Amino acid sequence: MAQTPRIIKTKVGIIGGGPAGLMLSHLLSKSGIDNLVVEMRDHETIRNTHRAGILEAQAVKMLTESGVDGRVLTDGDEHAGIDLRFNGESHPLDFRDLVDATVTLYAQNEVFVDLAAARQRDGGDVRYNCEVTEIMDMETSTPKFRFTDAEGTLFEVHADVIVGADGSRSFARRQMPDTVRKDFKVAYPFAWFGILTEAPKSSPELIYANSPHGFALISQRSETVQRMYFQCDPNEDVNAWSDDQIWSELQKRVDGPDNFQLKTGKIFDKTVLGFRSFVREPLSHGRMFLIGDAGHTVPPTGAKGLNLAFADVKVLFEALDSFFSTGSDKLLGGYSDLALKRVWKAQNFSYWMTSMLHTPVNADPFMAKRALGELETVTSSRYGQQYLAESYTGWPHS
Ligand code: PHB
Repeated sequence: MAQTPRIIKTKVGIIGGGPAGLMLSHLLSKSGIDNLVVEMRDHETIRNTHRAGILEAQAVKMLTESGVDGRVLTDGDEHAGIDLRFNGESHPLDFRDLVDATVTLYAQNEVFVDLAAARQRDGGDVRYNCEVTEIMDMETSTPKFRFTDAEGTLFEVHADVIVGADGSRSFARRQMPDTVRKDFKVAYPFAWFGILTEAPKSSPELIYANSPHGFALISQRSETVQRMYFQCDPNEDVNAWSDDQIWSELQKRVDGPDNFQLKTGKIFDKTVLGFRSFVREPLSHGRMFLIGDAGHTVPPTGAKGLNLAFADVKVLFEALDSFFSTGSDKLLGGYSDLALKRVWKAQNFSYWMTSMLHTPVNADPFMAKRALGELETVTSSRYGQQYLAESYTGWPHS
């Protein structure tokens, strides 16, 4: 016999408890707006999902000024530049000098840990291991969704607004009617092989390397743990690679006349990260709004994913705050158009960085040379460097 659902009433029902959903929940609660977060995965799984690690200064500010935690300031590492490496040569970009800005290296899973702890500290209602099965009445002023918790109990959430913050495979996104939506996407013929290693830093700044063997990114996590990636086939089997093979593949991609050598160590995590550019338009339907990866995905090359999600949160939070304090849905109605402006800038930047730094296997040799011409153009001009630096460190929030 079908269960009778238990009813939960709230103002904002948030589907998805990753950084975007939790950040929105945190800001709403601070403004006294009742909300609930339901998340499919458990806390440990999200905590162990390794994603990119670069935060724009504005994302850092959202964490610290809203009182999430100051750990990003003590454990995060401020970076004032990157190194673009091609033809075996380093081309450092100094963000402070170029655009008077910096970024902070702080892993996305640490952002999640801080936000989850802040929600718990402040008495937020965040439920893990819950599967959303149905969204109803999103075109009315009383949207609802149903979910089942880990014990199999069925709940029905009655809200004023529903937010889909449930990541790139979003269930919420798929519930928008076909007739009102358009998806834009690009597939890439490569992926990233990501590793975590117990090793000292190989260089002070992150290195983005274009090489005849493919792309490599030398990133960091701490003084003793490093994060690195190399371009690979999307179907690569990480277990087929020994540590020695991985190190020799990475080293090949940063080799040069300067004899630059990676500092190696034990590899303790290996994953393949898929590449996709995706945008759903519009980012809302009726009383349902999409934020973060649920609405758009970028390839990781410019590390824009989390930053873009936080920018969505900021725009949507201000619209919700205005809606609940004045009753006017004017800002909510403008959410999609406003958020999409930044989304498309970030899509362009991520696509641009990706195409300039990666050479697809079997690429037309003209295209590989063209990319090197582009890198030369960007790095040999202060305007070119500033263009990259401004995008990398983040355009002002609207
Ligand atoms: C990372 O450290 O995981 C990272 C950094 C920069 C990127 C992507 C990933 O562009």
